[in-house]
Amino acid sequence: MAWKDYVEQTKANPPRQLLVQAVPLVIEKSRALDIGAGALNESRYLLSQGFEQVLALDFEPHAQAVADTLPSEHFSYVIRDVAKYAFPSQEFDLVNAQYALPFVKPQEFNRVLQNIYDSLKPKGIFTGQFFGDRDAWNVEHSGMTFHTKAEAMEVLSNCEVLYFTEEEAEKPTAAGASKHWHVFHFIVRK
Ligand SMILES: C[S@@+](CC[C@H](N)C(=O)[O-])C[C@H]1O[C@@H](n2cnc3c(N)ncnc32)[C@H](O)[C@@H]1O
Repeated sequence: MAWKDYVEQTKANPPRQLLVQAVPLVIEKSRALDIGAGALNESRYLLSQGFEQVLALDFEPHAQAVADTLPSEHFSYVIRDVAKYAFPSQEFDLVNAQYALPFVKPQEFNRVLQNIYDSLKPKGIFTGQFFGDRDAWNVEHSGMTFHTKAEAMEVLSNCEVLYFTEEEAEKPTAAGASKHWHVFHFIVRK
């Protein structure tokens, strides 16, 4: 996956609608984690919504130029594989992972999800997507993680589910190619 190209193609996008929907559900806007932060569109949105500290995590510094323009007293850009990130315990009011977690390797996925859960404050909000088993990228040796609907719901079962929807459609990728998308979108509360 050429993430550098993806970030270039998405850098002028508005924040993801699912995050916009999730932010009013956050009780205290103290600390937010943006996993797989890409072009930093969602991190910038979180700053604009008054989060005191926004930590953007990505394994490549695609958006360093944007990061350099953000206020360092409120924003940090951590370049690390989410599977190797030392998640702090009960720290975040919001964990945002837009189109990021399916790119975690299957053998690392459950540990990453447990780490996300542990890093949320009680009543903290977690939002993002899982890819479904009928997604076109679900081929052998993809190195990505896919779920059936039952599996996706099971992964979230230790939280209160505030929003969960299944999308299955032919739609273009960021690069413009048509693709069969099978995606579960969720907002949950710890
Ligand atoms: C599809 S993009 C999504 C970017 C942005 N969140 C959005 O919604 O447009 C996935 C992002 O996750 C990052 N990423 C993929 N696997 C990762 C991993 N294991 N650890 C950290 N970042 C990862 C990529 O570099 C890329 O920026």
